[in-house]
Amino acid sequence: MSLPDLSDAQITGETWASDSLGVGRWERACLLTDLFPERGAAALFGTVQVALFRLPDDAAYGVHAGQVYAVQNLDPFSGAHVLSRGIVGTRAGEPTVAAPVYKQVFSLVTGKCLVTADKTPKENLPSDLATYPVRLCDGMVHVGLP
Ligand code: FES
Repeated sequence: MSLPDLSDAQITGETWASDSLGVGRWERACLLTDLFPERGAAALFGTVQVALFRLPDDAAYGVHAGQVYAVQNLDPFSGAHVLSRGIVGTRAGEPTVAAPVYKQVFSLVTGKCLVTADKTPKENLPSDLATYPVRLCDGMVHVGLP
């Protein structure tokens, strides 16, 4: 379902991703309670596949505990849409996902590829992931798309 543009004034919940510039539209993804902590979920918006990750309320995640992050589901190194099945962890306080195929590690916050595992991305894909801002409104997770 697509929503009309949501101005900041309409948003009563928190914005988790710091950068919501460049959002063309906010899409409803699912209820927060549909997301299991540390387990990814894939969401399809038109032709855009997004991987959503809810972090546990665990001190290991520091200021990121309990937050939700959205990155592209396409794994640039395998060319497959599998990042939602990656392994969630942390590196120096940064929440990360490790790709399930070749184990590259990406920041969930910036999308940056932190570990290439001596591979190069497929078909000249960028090695870093696109990230999408996430907002919570009335228990519903919204993803900002370009
Ligand atoms: S505006 Fe969509 S749940 Fe509140």
